[in-house]
This record gives sequence, C-alpha cells and structure tokens, in this order.
Amino acid sequence: MTDHSHDHHNRHAPPSFGPENGDTALLLDLDAEVFHEHLTELTAWLAEIAGGVRRILDVGSGTGTGSFALLRRFADAEIIALDMEPHLLTHLRDKARDLGWEDRVRTVAADLDKAWPAVGEVDLVWASASLHHLADPAHALRQAFTALRPGGLLAAVERDGPPRLLPDDLGIGRPGLENRCRAELDRRHAATMPHRGADWAPHLTAAGFTVEAYRKFEIELRPPLPEAAGRYAQLSLRRLRNGLTTLEAPLDPDDLSVLDRLIDSDGPHNVLHRHDLTLRSQRDVWLARKPASAPAADQSTGR
Ligand SMILES: C[S@@+](CC[C@H](N)C(=O)[O-])C[C@H]1O[C@@H](n2cnc3c(N)ncnc32)[C@H](O)[C@@H]1O
Repeated sequence: MTDHSHDHHNRHAPPSFGPENGDTALLLDLDAEVFHEHLTELTAWLAEIAGGVRRILDVGSGTGTGSFALLRRFADAEIIALDMEPHLLTHLRDKARDLGWEDRVRTVAADLDKAWPAVGEVDLVWASASLHHLADPAHALRQAFTALRPGGLLAAVERDGPPRLLPDDLGIGRPGLENRCRAELDRRHAATMPHRGADWAPHLTAAGFTVEAYRKFEIELRPPLPEAAGRYAQLSLRRLRNGLTTLEAPLDPDDLSVLDRLIDSDGPHNVLHRHDLTLRSQRDVWLARKPASAPAADQSTGR
C-alpha cells in the first residue's frame, strides 16, 4: 500500500537523508542488524506497558527498523510508516514484501512538520530518532496525540548521535580523534538541530500526554563483534567524515588524514580489519499515554 500524494518537501531536514545519499538505507539497516538485541529488549518492555496494539504509526520510519521490530512483537498489528523520503519507503516496502508482510505495511510519504495525512486512529505511535530532526516537534507531538486513540501510547526514542566505535589510542596517531569529531559534530548540529539531546518529557506533557515511563539504555557491544559491525563502523565513520568536511569549517587536516585511512577500503588501517572496536550507544525512551478521557481522534479516513 502506498500513498505518495502528500507533500514531502522539507527545507529544515538535513540533506543527509536525501536520495543523493544512497548509503542512508544501508546505514539504517546495519544499525537495525547490529543493535537487534537492544530493539528486542526495548519492544518487550514497550509491550508490557502498551496494552492492545493493532494499528501502529511509525513516524520518520526510515527503512523500517522500528516498523519491523514492532510487527514482530505485535503479531496481530499492522503499521503505517510515514517518512519524507520516498526512496527509504520504497526500501521499506521491498523488505516487507520479502518478509511476506506487504499486507501489514502501508507507507505514506509526508513531511511531519506540515499537516499530517489522515491515517485513521492508531494504538501506538513510534518515533525513533526522528523528533530531533523536526523544525516544529511541538506540532508533530500534537498531531501524534490527535492520531492516537484515547488510552493509546507514544514511544519516543532518541540516540546520543552516531555510536562511538574507536579506542582512544588508534595506534596510527591522533589519539582522541573520535571524541574530537563528535564534539565538532555536536557543535555544528546545535545550530541546525536545536532539539537534539532534548528532554522530551516536558514537550510530551505540553502536547497533552501523560509520561508513564522513561528508560535510558546504555548499549556496549564488545569484541568479538559480528561482521556487520565492521561494515557499520566503516559507513558510520564515512558519514562522520563527510558530515564534518562538507560544511564551511574544515576538519583538522591531520584528523582528516587518519579518518581517511580508517575508511580507505584498500588500505591496511581500514576499520574493517580492526579487532578492538567497541560499539557504544545511548538510547533514551519516553513512553507517554494519551489520557483515556481525551476525545477520540477526529480522523474518519484510513481505517
Ligand atoms: C535517523 S533516521 C531514523 C529512522 C528510523 N526511525 C530508525 O530508527 O532507524 C530519521 C528519519 O526521519 C526522517 N525525517 C526527518 N525529518 C522529517 C520530516 N520533516 N518529515 C518526515 N520524515 C522526516 C528521515 O527521512 C529519516 O528517515
């Protein structure tokens, strides 16, 4: 099921998710693979709190990392995946077809900063690593509130940026490289994504939700790591390098040179050959309820 009719242009979103970045889908899929156990734990916790879940709205779905984890967890559920990038939704639909789940998945291309398309009442809204991208997250939370049935739940998941991967001493110079790069990325994102790293509890309360639970997941994946972790590390570092070098202020040339050696597929220092990678990621999750006494969603279509 597809609906590309909604306007999906967004001037505020970073260009990194656009079709010109063909590796976005791969990076999101590798993230799903590498952090699979974490997602299983997270959805198990969510299921304890959510109550009956038959219809789910995944906002900023990307390639469906959350969508597929939720379809596995809630065996009777169907999902509406909403994202502004049609190429990511195409990828998501292809995966749904491969899994034999095309009847359980509908994709809608839409800009969450604008009026949301009518999708019918849902039991669960899932927003993973998407809220901080929005120019107007307060608007999005109000729309999510409207889409939910009374008593329905919203799960907001946010990450502390790209995962940390490298040891401090790389053995090829420039100790502390990753910390410096992350600090620089944080500095630059502070201007373009002011909601990155926000405490979402007050925003959820302001939209009418009751925050029922909050949990911080500190993930640390130590060696030996699966083969996918090396590819994830390489792609993640390439994105970090490109993100830091295409903007006005160039990266320190010595740091850049070491980063290039780490991602050079033909070189001896490529991160794929390292056995000392440890993947660290922090994920914060807020579970917020639309009060049972709230009026039902004013959406007559899509059900
Ligand atoms: C970091 S990715 C997260 C994808 C997925 N939720 C996950 O956890 O893997 C952020 C997603 O939000 C989408 N996005 C960003 N701004 C958006 C907007 N204004 N409207 C719709 N989608 C948006 C991007 O296209 C991208 O797919």
